[in-house]
Amino acid sequence: MKIVKNRILKNQFVSEGVYRISVEADTQVKPGQFFMLKTLDNSFLLPRPLSVNDVNGNTVSFLYRVEGKGTKKISTLHEGEELQLFGPLGNGFDINDLKGTVAVVGGGMGVAPILYLVKLLGQKAEVYLGYKDSANMYICQEFKNISEKVVVVTEDGSFGEKGLVTDYVPYNKYTSVVACGPEIMMRKIAEHCTENEIQCYVSLERRMACGMGVCLGCNVETKAGNKKACKDGPVFSGEEIIW
Ligand code: FES
Repeated sequence: MKIVKNRILKNQFVSEGVYRISVEADTQVKPGQFFMLKTLDNSFLLPRPLSVNDVNGNTVSFLYRVEGKGTKKISTLHEGEELQLFGPLGNGFDINDLKGTVAVVGGGMGVAPILYLVKLLGQKAEVYLGYKDSANMYICQEFKNISEKVVVVTEDGSFGEKGLVTDYVPYNKYTSVVACGPEIMMRKIAEHCTENEIQCYVSLERRMACGMGVCLGCNVETKAGNKKACKDGPVFSGEEIIW
C-alpha cells in the first residue's frame, strides 16, 4: 500500500451525476478493495474512499456518484491530470473462498464493486442487478458482456423485471451469495442466507475519514464485537453482522 500520484486516463460521464474515473496504478488489487482519492490542489480536506470498479492491466477504474465537494471536484478532472491515490485498502473478496455457483447481487451504486468480482469469477457468477428506475441504471451492459446470466430489476418496472431485486434471487440454487447495495437489501439477503445455511458475504459502505483504522469513524457492529469497515472489511460475512 502506498500513496502515489497517478495519471488520469479517463474521467467519463456514465449517467446523471455518475462518472467513472480510470487511472494508472501499478499494483495488485482484489475485488472489493478500495482506494482513498484526493486531488493535488487540496481543494477538499479529506480523501474520498472509492471502491474499485474494474482493473485492466495497470488501469484501475472507480465508478462514483457526485455527492459532495470532493466527488464534485473529482468529476471535473481531465485525462492527463494527476490524482493522489492511497491504497489498495480493505480486505476485498476472497475468490477462492466462494464455492459453487455464486449469486452476485448489486443494488444501485452497489453495482460498482461487484463488476471486477464478476469478471474474475467468470462463469461461476450469476448476476442480479437492482435499480430504482431506468434513468438510474449503470453499467448493465458491462455485466452482460462478461456474464451469461444477468437479471435486471427496476423498482418501477421501467426496465427488466419489476420490484425489488431481492425477490428475484432463487437463493437455494446457490452455494454462495455476495451482495453490495443499500443496507436494507444486504440485511434481507444475509438473514435469508443465514436461515438457509448459504454462504453469504456483503460489502458494507461507511463514512471513512482515514481508511486505515485510525479515526474510528467506520464502526461495524458484529457478533465478535465492534470492527472497522476500512480495515476489517468492507467485506464481511453476512452472518457476523448485527443488522
Ligand atoms: Fe478511519 Fe475506518 S475510516 S478507522
